[in-house]
Amino acid sequence: DFVDGLTSFAGNAGVGVHLYAANRSMERRAFFNADGELLIVPQQGRLKIVTELGLIDIDPLEVALIPRGVRFRVELPDGAARGYVCENGGHPFRLPELGPIGANGLANVRDFEMPAAWFEDVDTATELIQKFAGKLWTTTLDHSPFDVVAWHGNLAPWRYDLRRFNTVNTVSFDHVDPSIFTVLTSPSDTPGTANCDFVIFPPRWTVAEGTFRPPWFHRNVMSEYMGLIEGSYDAKAGGFAPGGGSLHNQMAGHGPDKASYDAAIAADLKPQKIEKTMAFMFESSAVLRPTRFAVESPLMQLDYDDCWSGFTKAELPK
Ligand SMILES: [Fe+2]
Repeated sequence: DFVDGLTSFAGNAGVGVHLYAANRSMERRAFFNADGELLIVPQQGRLKIVTELGLIDIDPLEVALIPRGVRFRVELPDGAARGYVCENGGHPFRLPELGPIGANGLANVRDFEMPAAWFEDVDTATELIQKFAGKLWTTTLDHSPFDVVAWHGNLAPWRYDLRRFNTVNTVSFDHVDPSIFTVLTSPSDTPGTANCDFVIFPPRWTVAEGTFRPPWFHRNVMSEYMGLIEGSYDAKAGGFAPGGGSLHNQMAGHGPDKASYDAAIAADLKPQKIEKTMAFMFESSAVLRPTRFAVESPLMQLDYDDCWSGFTKAELPK
């Protein structure tokens, strides 16, 4: 189920990156995380999340947030499901400052949906698992913990449809810093850097002129864990499949693969719609250390850096 199939791939003191894969619903089991809130990003399969504060249904292309300490179970209405989880132990996720964008844009407050109260009155033994101080603990209750008949307050689970994101980007030249795609941020103690940003690359028009349009080669402070919900990412023509992940840690140089570079150099820069794609990043200003599982897994792509082989030395214009 969702808890048994939750596997840690990377993390630091403030952020954990996990993937889940489940083929059965949680039955007579509930889970909560004392170490942080959980942002659940389905990649395949619908989830019905039963929480103490109500029911949340999400499809891939929607995300849900379970606040720290809120008990929940995950049911699978359509069978097998898999996806990504960002565990945030830092400042709770909030919307980013919009700065000169103004009052509206990016993720709008109106699109975050909180559940109405829902309860069950079930007096059968229920296992309650919690993650506390980095370890899992278990106890058995003599009843279902989903017995909250009403609630009020402002720390509640919610869902958000990524298709509602109001994408802002350049309409003149250059590739904008991906922070323009920030859905949610967990600020750090250092202004301008984040414990974690949740950033998406949704379908959008690309219209920049006189420009290399894909993300260019860069080194940066933020350690970038990237995942793909559907389609392909505009800087990786090959090798980055939906459900996969990549990690470019602090100051590790990275950029488009050779195929994406060649296509971008040759492209006719007329307006183009990037469609049927949804990539995202969990990025952190602290290094994301991969887990032993991630490093030793046969799923690890040992030749990943070959995607940058074959570049020829640049020549000055004659
Ligand atoms: Fe990057």
